[in-house]
Amino acid sequence: MKSVGIYCFSATGNTLRVCNLIKEQLSGLGAEVKIIKVEDGLNEENSPLLFDAFAVAYPVHGFNAPQNVIDFVKQFPQGSKGYYIIKSSGEPAPANRDSSHQIVNILGKKGYELMDEFHYVMPYNMIFRHSQDMVDMMWKRAAEAAPYDAKEIFEGGRGEIKQKLRHKFISRLFTVEHGGMRIIGRGFKVDMEKCIKCGKCVKNCPVHNITFDGEKFTFGKKCLGCVRCSFNCPVNAIKISILEGWKVNGPYKIGEQKEYDESKVCRYCNKSYKQYFTRTGGNSIYSADKAE
Ligand SMILES: Cc1cc2nc3c(=O)[nH]c(=O)nc-3n(C[C@H](O)[C@H](O)[C@H](O)COP(=O)(O)O)c2cc1C
Repeated sequence: MKSVGIYCFSATGNTLRVCNLIKEQLSGLGAEVKIIKVEDGLNEENSPLLFDAFAVAYPVHGFNAPQNVIDFVKQFPQGSKGYYIIKSSGEPAPANRDSSHQIVNILGKKGYELMDEFHYVMPYNMIFRHSQDMVDMMWKRAAEAAPYDAKEIFEGGRGEIKQKLRHKFISRLFTVEHGGMRIIGRGFKVDMEKCIKCGKCVKNCPVHNITFDGEKFTFGKKCLGCVRCSFNCPVNAIKISILEGWKVNGPYKIGEQKEYDESKVCRYCNKSYKQYFTRTGGNSIYSADKAE
């Protein structure tokens, strides 16, 4: 039986949902699939050497992969197998495509070969809240693409990938986001009038950056800007500093599917969403390139 490991970071659930869709499909093909949460760390029981193939999954942050995912893959042992990238982002902008450039570099030096990248558009957890129509169309597209992408992983398809220089350039430019978030994150504040001291933010921060001494919350220097704390705060008590105007608070209802309806596509990035929703087949960014 073929074994597949999926190393997944998902701050607010979107990327994990996509991984579960792909896992379901891979299992249907007869693979044994393990989803490993990046926060759980790398150890001998979940080493990439144990799987026939593996994938690294993350949400796009500022046209890049989040810092904790980059730090995680740095710990991988030397290897020689193929791997896949699965990413989710709020918009289908081409600049999101080579958000993996640092991961690809690190894993390439360790001997792993990038086989393909799958880009799923999922609701924004930052910038603005997508409408329920958009969410339902996104979920339909994800469910349509997952069987193709799973089949490709199962069969060990594609390879000989070359990332495009123009996309890499934009991603590289935005790597400043990592340092920026560590600074901005220190300015996150909790409105103690609203706070119910449920401790969710402290417990769930993927990098243990939040502490509470019984009276006051402190946000340390390791913030990823992933917004898991503010997104899941049940009373919307966390102010995310200069990003407050872009805050999206509270989970989406994801699970329904809606037929593509042009009139329901949001005005922002309208053309690229339309292209994404009307694609057929899987979500490989390299087959999308061919179609361009
Ligand atoms: C700090 C931050 C930066 C983001 N940057 C981008 C971006 O550059 N492009 C994009 O399309 N979406 C961006 N997003 C939106 C997320 O990538 C998107 O909502 C993703 O599906 C969230 O996945 P998750 O729920 O697994 O964390 C950003 C979100 C955050 C919190």
